[in-house]
Amino acid sequence: PLFRTMFGLSELEEKIRRHFDLKQVVIVPGDSEASPRTKRELGRAGCQALRKALGKDDVVAVTGGSTLAQVANQFSSPTPLKSNWFVPARGGLGESLDYQANTIASTMAKRTGAQYRLLHVPDHLGEEAYLSLMQEPNVREIVEVIRSARIVVHGIGDAMVMARRRRVDDSVVEALKADGALAEAFGYYFDRNGSVVHKMLTAGLRLEDIMTTEVVIAVAGGRSKAEAIAAVMKFGHDDVLVTDEAAAKEIAALI
Ligand code: F6P
Repeated sequence: PLFRTMFGLSELEEKIRRHFDLKQVVIVPGDSEASPRTKRELGRAGCQALRKALGKDDVVAVTGGSTLAQVANQFSSPTPLKSNWFVPARGGLGESLDYQANTIASTMAKRTGAQYRLLHVPDHLGEEAYLSLMQEPNVREIVEVIRSARIVVHGIGDAMVMARRRRVDDSVVEALKADGALAEAFGYYFDRNGSVVHKMLTAGLRLEDIMTTEVVIAVAGGRSKAEAIAAVMKFGHDDVLVTDEAAAKEIAALI
């Protein structure tokens, strides 16, 4: 379309795509941090990217957050997705209900006639709690479905913003700062080189699952997230990035 060429967004998409070796980059005009309309557009573009990747019998794991909530609230399908499953990528991360991965997975399924399963456990677990929860057949079963996902759709956040939003302990915040944590995605924290600086036992998707997931789609925008987005792209396991003009311009200036 004409407006894309006018704003040179196609060139920007290609520059970012090439730099991070992604399959596809989609940029919506504007800054989703400043404009609710742009945030909705970002969500809509996320829906399109997911529909393009979605096949029969696919399991889709989704993370939480306000951006993914925009994807979920606009997700639709011309025909019911009876053979698809939507599941949360992680357990409870201390987000408010609207932003929880469980809510997002069930909204997406209900809107499209797909199926869903929920994971009702806190995300960060001590070893003892983890091992005993994994003995529960119900928990085990859903965890296996989550880890079998062919598609992951996730948000990206600034590390310190996310740590505060989740009310993590001061000692953890200090450790994250000392380790140079810059970005957060799927419950993991990354430094500017895309290295994971904080790992924990989780009942959801583990790092090794994300590394082998066939299609990983990131949906994140806003000028202030540029460094965080670039850090997660350096981690190098995303296939598709859906972002906005404000973040994309900053990312392009970094690379
Ligand atoms: O907590 C879930 C999550 O997807 C995080 O992994 C991510 O950092 C954050 O939400 C993004 O939230 P938002 O879209 O509200 O900025």
